[in-house]
Amino acid sequence: MSVRAQFKSRGSFLLAAAGSAVGLGNIWAFPTQVAQNGGGAFLLAYLLLVFILGYPVLVAELLIGRHSQANPLTALRRVAATAGGRGYRSSALLLGLVGILGVSLILSFYAIVSGWLLGYLLSSTARLLGCSQAAGWLIHPSMLRDGVLTGLFTLLTASVIRRGVAQGIEQWSARLMPLLVLFLVVMCGYIVLQPGAMEGLKAYLVPDCARLLNPQLLISALGQAFFSLSIGVYAMMAYGSYLPRSESVPLVAAQVVLFDTLVAFLAGLLIIPAMFVAQQQGITIYDQQQQLLSETSLVFQVLPALFERLGVVGPGLALLFFGLMVIAALTSAIAMLEVPVLCLTETCGYSRRSATGWVALGIGGISLVIIKQGDQLFKGVVILTTHYIQPLSGLACALLVGWLWQRASLLQEIRSGYPNLENSLFWKIWPGYLRFVCPVLILLVFLAQCW
Ligand code: PHE
Repeated sequence: MSVRAQFKSRGSFLLAAAGSAVGLGNIWAFPTQVAQNGGGAFLLAYLLLVFILGYPVLVAELLIGRHSQANPLTALRRVAATAGGRGYRSSALLLGLVGILGVSLILSFYAIVSGWLLGYLLSSTARLLGCSQAAGWLIHPSMLRDGVLTGLFTLLTASVIRRGVAQGIEQWSARLMPLLVLFLVVMCGYIVLQPGAMEGLKAYLVPDCARLLNPQLLISALGQAFFSLSIGVYAMMAYGSYLPRSESVPLVAAQVVLFDTLVAFLAGLLIIPAMFVAQQQGITIYDQQQQLLSETSLVFQVLPALFERLGVVGPGLALLFFGLMVIAALTSAIAMLEVPVLCLTETCGYSRRSATGWVALGIGGISLVIIKQGDQLFKGVVILTTHYIQPLSGLACALLVGWLWQRASLLQEIRSGYPNLENSLFWKIWPGYLRFVCPVLILLVFLAQCW
């Protein structure tokens, strides 16, 4: 049997896991959620939920993956098997299949949005080269453009995954993540110094405390936290299966959470002030209900209009910004595609090459159906995956690790890489917390949303 791939070092794991976590969720969704949900109040709720719910569930997912050193389908079954009982194993299999469906659906809409961003990136390049007709086509909405760009992005993702862990995921995360941080810092530095930026910083950072206990705010913050940490669809479980046993899972999970949160925070420092800088330039940033424009209108109207009015630096900034977006999207998309590809290679014996080809083709097909059907199906898929599949699978993982995983085996797994675990605060709190508090909290937030 061939030796299973592993990340070379903690650094490579962190880059890949951070690449999975940092994505459009951070740069696209987080800043506008903050601005729309009471500024600093959302930030506070988000930070709280990331640490009290996101972190413990992330540890659980990584542990399941590393314990079995196998794909999520096998990993879930192996952990369930430590509790005995055939029924547990079948439920674990079902859970695995739901996660694979979830991640494939997420990738199918993620690739569409990433395709638009790729279009804006290519268009900024074409404009710099003086090809204005091509530049126009790339940003003008049409089914053909969406199909071509989504296909291109999916191909790009598949070409990384096809190469496997060392040559693909590890190498590309190491190249792209430092670039992402560099772009983000340079742009933040520039925007914060522009007229109007201070007002944006206020809107971003000063909390409207009256909204802190608003259930809608808590639900949005939980959904955002799970999406941003890539939890509930086993992307982190797959990466955990490549994590060497010499690493401490609680520690690396904390590092991933901190990095992901830091990038989201930085993205907010860029996007919200940029909107107020745009307002100074005469660009509309509020809709008819006096809400800040968000997501699609923000990224594809407000920011391009701002770049256009910034004179000579404008085209360069546009290139940096859309480059940043595409990099963030790509490192997340490769983590998503890895889940079904890994399952197919390990459970059905496909070669990595053909598994990548078939899965990419299938997911690309779903994207095309979504493009053809339009907005309603798009929104439906987003809601199904991020509001239902992710929180419920996260809940199931917490229950699996908290209640079914045999205690001695769990202890042994966490102890590798963390030798004095038994004396740590983590071991005193985490298992009981994962058993009782996490499921109840996730369920409460979930039910509040249904209600
Ligand atoms: N965390 C990614 C983001 O913030 C999205 C993602 C979800 C990645 C699920 C992998 C799995 O954009």
